[in-house]
Amino acid sequence: MTRISMENDDRKPRPAEEAHLIPYDRMKEQFEKEVLGFLEKKGAEDMTPPQVSFEKGATRIHFATPPITPGMLIDFVLIIKKYITHLRVHSFDSGYYAFQALNRNVFKTENILDNCKVEFFVLSTTSRVEISKKGNLSQEEINMAVELFRRAVSATRQDPAFRLRALGASMVEPDRDLTWDYIAGYEEVKRNIRESVILPLQNPDMYDSIARMTRKVFETNRPRAILFDGPPGVGKTTAARIIAGESDLPLVYVPVESIMSKWYGQSSQNLSQIFDACEDLGGAIIFLDEIDSLAGSRDQNMFEATRQILSVLLRRLDGIDAAASTITIGATNRKNDLDHALISRFDQTVYFPLPNAAERAAIFGNYAKNLGEAECSHLGDRSEGLSGRNIKDICEFTERRWARKVLVKNLEPAAPPFDFYRHTLRIWKETK
Ligand SMILES: Nc1ncnc2c1ncn2[C@@H]1O[C@H](COP(=O)(O)OP(=O)(O)OP(=O)(O)O)[C@@H](O)[C@H]1O
Ligand SMILES: [Mg+2]
Repeated sequence: MTRISMENDDRKPRPAEEAHLIPYDRMKEQFEKEVLGFLEKKGAEDMTPPQVSFEKGATRIHFATPPITPGMLIDFVLIIKKYITHLRVHSFDSGYYAFQALNRNVFKTENILDNCKVEFFVLSTTSRVEISKKGNLSQEEINMAVELFRRAVSATRQDPAFRLRALGASMVEPDRDLTWDYIAGYEEVKRNIRESVILPLQNPDMYDSIARMTRKVFETNRPRAILFDGPPGVGKTTAARIIAGESDLPLVYVPVESIMSKWYGQSSQNLSQIFDACEDLGGAIIFLDEIDSLAGSRDQNMFEATRQILSVLLRRLDGIDAAASTITIGATNRKNDLDHALISRFDQTVYFPLPNAAERAAIFGNYAKNLGEAECSHLGDRSEGLSGRNIKDICEFTERRWARKVLVKNLEPAAPPFDFYRHTLRIWKETK
């Protein structure tokens, strides 16, 4: 009877196998050359390339991907299978999937944890892929890492958040800790927003079912676009962030002015793509900030680019098939200068005035809770014409001045006294 020697099947690489392992430095160079070349070819140089390291005797490659969907996971597993013949599922918990190469002799489990391992960490807004192995990688393992990364790149390029970033917009996940309490006063504005924006976003079906009872041909009656008008620093952007938090939707922030200059010449297509990406999000608050950069009525000499952007915007705001939970908010400091056709696309305007004396006192109260009511009223009475932003700046400035004094004079840390606020306010008024 022939005895089959198991010796060669041990985990320890045989000399021949060892020769197949690529020394770390060479591997890193080859791998990085491949992935950077790929990113360049795809015009995705702004994506973060994988990180490669060698620590505590192990090689590690990791990179980010958009949240991993079941379809992506299957693709990843197929890629791993192509390069690693004998594989075991180490974990398949939701949120953590790990696959590990078995030993050459699949029945031997000795040192199995030292073999090549591919892990997927699924987080809410991004995921991470990690390839690790004790010692050096084989050519097959390097190829696998390259292919996994390529798959991640193609997913990223389809990911709405990535597309938005590439277009100069940004997506902010809802912040549920930011509530209306953050804005002092403005009760009328808050009520108005609650009724005209939050209710429809939270109950789109109710609005649609009423329209079904009234319209011969169904069309939605939900407001799709709201204009925030008001001087600088009165809480328009903050209100949009609060709305996103309350309705649990991402806020897509579109700085119209910077988009126009960034994409000069092709901004209209880009604006269109921003709306497409928002639709793929399946619901969002689209915040078009500084919409006045499109100001100028049609009969004035408008630049060709501005005219094109405006026409895209007019069409998009009219769009009947926008997702039920998407609303566009435009913000302006100069509503009167806006194109009339554009204004008419907004279902409603919410005006944010400068705060009155009582509101200014309340804003002081928000940023200087150390002050008493009478002290806040005093400051509120003497800050006519200031916005919430100005008041916040005054409070911050006071804190900094006070902190310097505490440090220089070696005082016990304490909140700034009332006199310091009064003094900053006076300096502020004199210098403005
Ligand atoms: N009523 C308020 N209560 C508390 N903080 C306020 C209030 N109004 C404005 N602020 C603060 O002032 C800062 C500026 O507000 P925000 O950016 O929302 O203003 P804005 O109306 O969007 O201004 P702009 O037109 O310049 O874009 C924020 O930090 C905001 O919290
Ligand atoms: Mg703003």
